[in-house]
Amino acid sequence: VARYNDSEKDGKVNPFAWEDQQIRKATLSFGSKNKNQSEEAKAYDYVFDDQDEVVRADIKGGVDGNEEANQKKRLKSVVKSAYERLLEDRKSLPIYPEKERLLKAIEDNQILVIVAETGSGKTTQIPQYLHEAGYTKHGKIGVTQPRRVAAMSVAARVSREMGVKLGQQVGYSIRFEDRSCEKTVIKYMTDGMLLREILGEPDLASYTVVMVDEAHERSLSTDIVFSLVKDIAKVRPDLKVLISSATMDAQKFSEYFDSAPIIDIPGRRFPVEIHYTEAPEADYMDAAIVRALQIHVTEPQGDGDILIFFTGQEEIETAEEFLKQRTRGFGSKIPELIICPIYANLPTELQAKIFQPTPDGARKVVLATNIAETSLTIDGIKYVIDPGFVKLKSYNPRTGMESLQITAISKASANQRAGRSGRTGPGKCYRLYTEDYYLNDLCDNTVPEIQRTNLANVALSLKSLGIDDLVEFDFMDPPSSQALLKALELLFALNALNKFGELTKLGRQMAEFPLDPMLSKMIVASNIYKCSEEIVSIAAMLSVGGSIFYRPKNKKVHADNAHQNFHVGNVGDHIAMLNVYNGWKETEFSTQWCYDNFIQERSMKRARDIRDQLKGIMERLDIELTSNLGDLGAIKKAITAGYFPNSAKFQMDRSYRTIKNAQTVYIHPSSGLAEVLPRYVVYNELVDTSKEYMRQVSEIKREWLVEIAPHYYQLKDVEDLASRKMPRGEGLSSKH
Ligand code: CDP
Ligand code: MG
Repeated sequence: VARYNDSEKDGKVNPFAWEDQQIRKATLSFGSKNKNQSEEAKAYDYVFDDQDEVVRADIKGGVDGNEEANQKKRLKSVVKSAYERLLEDRKSLPIYPEKERLLKAIEDNQILVIVAETGSGKTTQIPQYLHEAGYTKHGKIGVTQPRRVAAMSVAARVSREMGVKLGQQVGYSIRFEDRSCEKTVIKYMTDGMLLREILGEPDLASYTVVMVDEAHERSLSTDIVFSLVKDIAKVRPDLKVLISSATMDAQKFSEYFDSAPIIDIPGRRFPVEIHYTEAPEADYMDAAIVRALQIHVTEPQGDGDILIFFTGQEEIETAEEFLKQRTRGFGSKIPELIICPIYANLPTELQAKIFQPTPDGARKVVLATNIAETSLTIDGIKYVIDPGFVKLKSYNPRTGMESLQITAISKASANQRAGRSGRTGPGKCYRLYTEDYYLNDLCDNTVPEIQRTNLANVALSLKSLGIDDLVEFDFMDPPSSQALLKALELLFALNALNKFGELTKLGRQMAEFPLDPMLSKMIVASNIYKCSEEIVSIAAMLSVGGSIFYRPKNKKVHADNAHQNFHVGNVGDHIAMLNVYNGWKETEFSTQWCYDNFIQERSMKRARDIRDQLKGIMERLDIELTSNLGDLGAIKKAITAGYFPNSAKFQMDRSYRTIKNAQTVYIHPSSGLAEVLPRYVVYNELVDTSKEYMRQVSEIKREWLVEIAPHYYQLKDVEDLASRKMPRGEGLSSKH
């Protein structure tokens, strides 16, 4: 399993030209159909802000000879015909005949649990029905999604269905990206963003309806939102709360919301033939590829598409590569196989590709993460290949250490996955495991995220909402008291809480940032070290999500040489990121500079954007922006002020040991310090692949730990036991 994970994320990223290539290829491979699609996209962008009713309005304009007016008229008519086509689609959804019954139930009840098969139209239709029924006259409809990609893509879809421009009446809000405005009445957002909205508006006064969608996913923020909206509903009798879920757990939701009624929308589900393997598969990647090709070649041409579930971007890219290699020699006898990847960090332009209809005769193979299990419905899937794994967070409340791990799925997941093949006709699901394994080894349900994650972030949010007693908080499934305690301990160590468990001024400032507490502490603390300009750049670079360094297969040496410039002096990964940001900034954010230095421009633009937003929060909090670029020590001290709980000490066998818990960890091979091996380091995160790896590492001095966190570290904790045999000479030969 470890072969296909994130271990080399920075090393194996796509070339910057790659995305453009993909977009071009996608356009070409869809031929004329796709031309209409991009024409359509242009048309939607063209719809003017005030064109609320554009599709119903007369299409005026277009005096001959007036190029612009003609163009406008043409684009409007494109929107209108797309609108009419989509209207037909909408009417064919299982939820459509239930519209009146649904609206009546919502009118009669304040809280309602809505259950329907995935793909019935819950997410896209219910908000529109409510809008048409007048629920947006005095406020907004907020719809939460556990996944950012789902929030974005559903908002885009609904804006098209309504014939309006995305970001106007229909918008979305995800962390660091708000595409909504004061006109927005249907707002899709991640559940985490609703949590932040509640921080700013504790009674959600601007909302008339909150729909907690994908409730069965039981993401951490969804679970917290449950409890908060349950309370808000008590003080806001006019607020409607809808809990919508795939066909799972409905009874449990109803009980939690004081026996709220359940409305069950009958879905269409065709029979699905389940196939198991005879024996366990040694290599599920290979087995999945072979199976997909077999389906493509042996099943009737053009009878349906294939969906394969992988655990993450890395695996999906590997699979894409394999599929391309193996279909290269197919020639013209075998119909085209169109490869469509979908995962959280996929560039927005490419996300749309999975929804485009498959051209006649061809077959689509969608390579997806768990996102396609219930969040996104892709029409036309007839074959599902399920290797049986998912990447999940896991947390050890004893040590407080969190990491991502590839884990077996639950029976409930396996059944949802299989169901994706029987939406439009009878389907087939190939499970790459044995029936015995399914029956005896898989758990019934996935453990809710709240029971396998670090709770510091949530605890800080709840504290700043004035919820003091977290043990008494109304959790649907409470986390262990040990995990809660660990979270409070961390917040106390960061000085966000005082010894009475009350939020400090610092804690209040930290809660303003949509970031993990250690990261926000680093920003707030930078004030003391007079290096907030530098720290906010580092924080932004750390929050980008995608990779920054680009290392194409055929130019690894060139790329490494270019990247080495940012690491000169073995400054560590944080300062290297700062060097990248400043280097780019000095050239006025030049594209050519990114090219020359093998840096992902897309990530840099995102970093700049995030940086602006963080700066805005700092200004609001009166955190002065000062630069102290000459003093790398001060910058590293500020980093340590946030990340001191993640400190580790070098051991003689090239491993490290975390100072607080004595866990064995290693510097990630992609780190600039991987060969330098300083005595003391702090790191940003751990990833558990073949080993527990520290990612984003900086060297620190041990005295800093005692100086910065005297309540957390004593001198004896940091005593330099390994000092007698430090491989200093060997250590200085850096990879970079
Ligand atoms: O929420 P639920 O799973 O019940 O269904 P939905 O997401 O509202 O999807 C209803 C229909 O809209 C499906 O048939 C999807 O194919 C379509 N849809 C789409 O084409 N593009 C999207 N981004 C989302 C949905
Ligand atoms: Mg949905």
